[in-house]
Amino acid sequence: MDLSIFGHRDDEILAGIDVPRGYEAHLRWLPRLGDIFPNFHLEHEGGLFRFHEWAEGNWVYFFSHPAANTPVCTTEIADVAAHGEELARRGVKALNLSLDTHEVQAAWIADIEQMFGVKVDFPLLSDPTGKVASVCDMLHPHEDTVLCVRKSFIIDPSLRIRMIAEYPLNVGRDFEEILRVIDALQATDHNGLVAPGGWMPGDPLLVHPYIYTEEAKERFGSRLRVLNRYMRLLSPNVDAA
Ligand code: BEZ
Repeated sequence: MDLSIFGHRDDEILAGIDVPRGYEAHLRWLPRLGDIFPNFHLEHEGGLFRFHEWAEGNWVYFFSHPAANTPVCTTEIADVAAHGEELARRGVKALNLSLDTHEVQAAWIADIEQMFGVKVDFPLLSDPTGKVASVCDMLHPHEDTVLCVRKSFIIDPSLRIRMIAEYPLNVGRDFEEILRVIDALQATDHNGLVAPGGWMPGDPLLVHPYIYTEEAKERFGSRLRVLNRYMRLLSPNVDAA
């Protein structure tokens, strides 16, 4: 393997990571967990869609896809549309973005609704110049030079990014996993709990590693099962269900 693209000057070495020269042009702000999602404006349904105004106070599932009239994207939009009640129950608004025009999107939505018997009642934003997609890091030129990757953001009611996921063009997302992460975030926010790998609603949660066991016992009482100093299981509160 030719590693010459990883060539560097000595003063460029930072904590032992060599950034390939070709990547230097991409060193810029990237959306990260905990960041406030940037406000953006796009034309939509004859008016101006203002992201912060639309999103603030709600949980948001914001996702990009490569293109209208393609098979995997069709299944993804239909899947989100079919889960409308599940989203509403969790207080989540869905929002989609691609580089397609409004006209192409409108005809495609009609196709999806007819094919799958669903109502696509969330906005599909059109970003033909790719300006928003670029700032939100949805364009990955080594995956595709003109189409968005399958990027997913979960954004909380204070507009902070709580989850970021990227899927390749050839593989569709599993929307049940998105719902699982939303459930886990909502079950653990501000209460000293964390969700274990593979957690599903109804499973025990764990006490946050920053909380001492004595404090956890005071907070959670008899629902707490202590396996060792860092594995403290909290059984679900059946009374609250
Ligand atoms: C699709 O959604 O089927 C798709 C779109 C672009 C590239 C590959 C697949």
